[in-house]
Amino acid sequence: MSAGTPAPGAALDPRSVDMSTSLSTVALPDPVLTASGCAAAGRELAPYVDLTRIGAVVTKSIMLEPRSGRPTPRMAETPSGMLNSIGLQGPGVEAFVANDLRWLREHRVRTVVSIAGGTVQEYQKLAQRLRHEPGIAAIEVNISCPNVESRGQVFACDPFSASQVVQVVRRHTPPGVPVLAKLSPDVTDIAAIARSVREAGADGVSMINTLLGMVIDPGTMRPMLGGMTGGLSGPAIRPVAVRAVWQVHAAFPDLPILGMGGIRTGRDAFEFLLAGASAVSVGTAVFNDPHALARISTELRGILAERGIARLRDAVGLGHVMQARHVEAQQARRSAQQEALG
Ligand code: DHB
Repeated sequence: MSAGTPAPGAALDPRSVDMSTSLSTVALPDPVLTASGCAAAGRELAPYVDLTRIGAVVTKSIMLEPRSGRPTPRMAETPSGMLNSIGLQGPGVEAFVANDLRWLREHRVRTVVSIAGGTVQEYQKLAQRLRHEPGIAAIEVNISCPNVESRGQVFACDPFSASQVVQVVRRHTPPGVPVLAKLSPDVTDIAAIARSVREAGADGVSMINTLLGMVIDPGTMRPMLGGMTGGLSGPAIRPVAVRAVWQVHAAFPDLPILGMGGIRTGRDAFEFLLAGASAVSVGTAVFNDPHALARISTELRGILAERGIARLRDAVGLGHVMQARHVEAQQARRSAQQEALG
């Protein structure tokens, strides 16, 4: 959406709204994707959602080797979100390719594969292992897992480490497969991290990962989670995510953004589009509503239609345009008032 785009117009028939979007070179018929870690490799959502019709399945971050994860308990409820400390439990890339990726391919599900590593070399090996696998629409590089042994491994907290990982993954991924860097909100300047991964070759960013949090049980008087700290997700983090998307879109309007963080409704998804996301991932919401993806897409379609926005793409970053117009109008009013006062 550019500054010359006309303001939204009269209401439309929801069926006429073009919901298609893209993330770099990947075309998506629908803007709502799963969020990594919240629907395993998609199969468990298949009874509830036609996975071929959603934007894409984003798989739980896969590592090179099988991994049992962190000690239990691994989840704690908070007033408007969930704290988790899974510790990247998973089957390892070989089993993932043989079972999950094969299933997704056989069922013709658009698939974004999320990868995680403890070192730059591990990310490189993962990219090399996946490079000849068909059926991967994009790679999401999880450089922001909060549940790793050392905070030094949260690559997304440091612009240089983040860029090193992204550079090797980009180098070892086929040119037609976009690489999205998953950013952490636990940084002072998220636009600086976005700049760094962009310069390293990221074709887009996914944002945000969970925020690092802790819950202490007043009964036992010690941390609730086995791993002590965990990642906070759900509605509590939505304003943080919207702010982060807004800042990165303002700094790099051409950088594709997959937005996520507490999206439960079409209205929430719309907020992310206005801030600058081209598509959204839905995570925690599917835990208590496995139909959430389709519902959110339908609600979003209705919201766009009501506002006379014929193409979803026209809503991407529209909040920035509306804000600029608002400020301009305010300034014009002020100047007129001052002139009238002589
Ligand atoms: C885990 C990984 C994440 O990236 C995250 O945001 C939350 C949890 C994990 O597997 O522990």
